[in-house]
Amino acid sequence: MIIAIDGPAASGKGTLAKRIADLWGLPCLDTGLLYRAVARDVLARGFQLEDTWAALAMARSIDLKELCDPELRTPKAGDGASIVARIQQVRAALLAYQRDFAAQPGGSVLDGRDIGTVVCPTADAKIYVTARPEVRAQRRYNEYLARSEPVTYEAILADIQKRDERDASRESAPMRPAADADLLDTSDLDIEAAFDAAVGLIKRKIGQ
Ligand code: CDP
Repeated sequence: MIIAIDGPAASGKGTLAKRIADLWGLPCLDTGLLYRAVARDVLARGFQLEDTWAALAMARSIDLKELCDPELRTPKAGDGASIVARIQQVRAALLAYQRDFAAQPGGSVLDGRDIGTVVCPTADAKIYVTARPEVRAQRRYNEYLARSEPVTYEAILADIQKRDERDASRESAPMRPAADADLLDTSDLDIEAAFDAAVGLIKRKIGQ
């Protein structure tokens, strides 16, 4: 069983994906980390984020086992990720990693922006998680506070809106719900309620 969880920045799709994966005992891939790692590596080697060939070289050499670096969770990595994510060649290079991961025996859960539309168009269940930008910004702000990351609520809201705009307007695999995705607005739901709602949608899709 393959489960695709997509949605805009800080919509809570990562937390939901992990909990869903635990419930069904499936491996889980946060595909945003791949784009974040490409951005980190491009900058670490002194290249520009818009440099297609540098970004492609980094995408080709990515190591799925090295995605726990805390630096990947910073606002800088998120913003950089949405810049390299516009590059078609980078997306193509990362597609194979994601499809290999998805095709594991028993199934998998992947979260991102284009899982239901491009990476796993035949996924058994697809959920597109949204929430109002102000709610998403507040949740991300609380996360950063807990990690003592020096940011303001206003800067996070601006970052989320800029990234959403970039992600939705790019030519290659723009962020959007698949035609057969279930929409889940978590603006007024806490994590438990959002999880229960997501599980209900998945069970209905897979006929459990
Ligand atoms: O956690 P958050 O929602 O803030 O972001 P993320 O899922 O880690 O993704 C970071 C950036 O990577 C996004 O803003 C997208 O530009 C890009 N991304 C993408 O293009 N396609 C994906 N499947 C996943 C992420």
